[in-house]
Amino acid sequence: MAILKIARMGHPVLRRRAEEVEDPDTPENHYLVHNMIETMADARGLGLAAPQVHVSKRVVIFHAPADEPNRAPGESVERELTVLFNPIIEPMSDEKVFGWEGCLSVPDLRGKVPRHASIRYRGLTLDGGTIERTVHGMHARVVQHECDHLDGVLYPMQMTDLSKLVFDSEFHHFIEAADEMDEFDDDVEDGEEMVDVDT
Ligand code: NI
Repeated sequence: MAILKIARMGHPVLRRRAEEVEDPDTPENHYLVHNMIETMADARGLGLAAPQVHVSKRVVIFHAPADEPNRAPGESVERELTVLFNPIIEPMSDEKVFGWEGCLSVPDLRGKVPRHASIRYRGLTLDGGTIERTVHGMHARVVQHECDHLDGVLYPMQMTDLSKLVFDSEFHHFIEAADEMDEFDDDVEDGEEMVDVDT
């Protein structure tokens, strides 16, 4: 296994549409996924897409967050690592929510990004099985962020207000300002989520 080099914003591999994977269950793909897991852990990431390690294939891995304020009653909380080939996302409604995101390919920055509040996604596992889930909140946000990487899209390209693209080191100003204005709790009630790790 190996820790792979992470492509950063500006590298062409991050702007390309990644290729479908015909058969996930090959030694080459097992090797790729294991290296992606090791690379993500080393970088302390929450998720990683293959183009971020210079491999233009439709593969993403992520830890769906355990703490989901927008979780529907009865929905199970996915803590396990998910490996997904050829993922397809279907929004469950037009509702979008804003939340802060970071990305291993856009280091030291953080941005407030609108995402579908609720999605259904499906894809193949490493052994060729099928995953299909309906998810909300942070889980939905992470999946949308990762799958965007497969279509050459980085989170700043999804932003509608670039004044909310900030350095990590200045991020505390936003939390303090929101606290002072007593807005922060309202935002959370509106479905905003915090992400303090990169994907
Ligand atoms: Ni990312």
